[in-house]
Amino acid sequence: MAAQSTDLKVLESLTRAQLHAHATRYYKSGGRTEPEVALVVYGDARAVFKDYARTPGWFGRIIAPVLIWREASALRRLDGIVGVPQLYRQLDARGVLIEYLPATPWPQAKPAEAAYHKLDELVDQMHARGVAHCDLRAPSNMLVDEDGQPYIVDFVARVCRGRGWNLPWNWLFRQFVGADESALAKLRVRFAPRLATADDRARLDERGPVERIARAIGERTRAVVRFFVGS
Ligand SMILES: Nc1ncnc2c1ncn2[C@@H]1O[C@H](COP(=O)(O)OP(=O)(O)O)[C@@H](O)[C@H]1O
Ligand SMILES: [Mg+2]
Repeated sequence: MAAQSTDLKVLESLTRAQLHAHATRYYKSGGRTEPEVALVVYGDARAVFKDYARTPGWFGRIIAPVLIWREASALRRLDGIVGVPQLYRQLDARGVLIEYLPATPWPQAKPAEAAYHKLDELVDQMHARGVAHCDLRAPSNMLVDEDGQPYIVDFVARVCRGRGWNLPWNWLFRQFVGADESALAKLRVRFAPRLATADDRARLDERGPVERIARAIGERTRAVVRFFVGS
């Protein structure tokens, strides 16, 4: 345990080049609008490195720093919630180092029913802290471990609750909270139909106006659009 925490301290202080050199696998290998997502191993310590430094062009230069800021600020706001990875370090405008979760993406995991209830609680906790995830329709953003503990990753599309006086913004925030809840309904219908209620099925057919627009624009571009609209 002591060796692990010393290793983690060293891992957290590595440069970008060293982090890539210690990557043992890439969950994502990067692209024109995508980060590299690497599992970094140093001795007994592990971490996940999400890095846009090699994302080319204007996306890498202008959009990526906004996405990394969005991810890091959400992780700070959610700090301490079991099921959300800890932010170890923001390297700079284009990279974050976060806690490695020894868990499997939801679609491959075949989680037990109890995991769905825990996931509901986790999403409620996240909303109570004032964060709507906005990309839970991608089931790869939810993981589950062997004990049935759920986890949520990938906060680049998040929307945070505004100040009390900002009624229009908070109306919008509630729409995105609703979109997260619809995404959980969709998850049940797809992967745990026995758990899906009539309400869940109905929810998939009737979406609010913001949700319809958000879906029409598409997952990736939603994050970009919010950048231009503001957060
Ligand atoms: N902290 C983590 N621990 C373990 N696996 C992770 C972690 N963060 C991300 N992953 C894996 O990497 C994949 C891509 O990461 P994600 O943050 O969703 O990137 P993107 O924004 O490109 O979708 C996830 O679907 C998950 O499988
Ligand atoms: Mg993702």
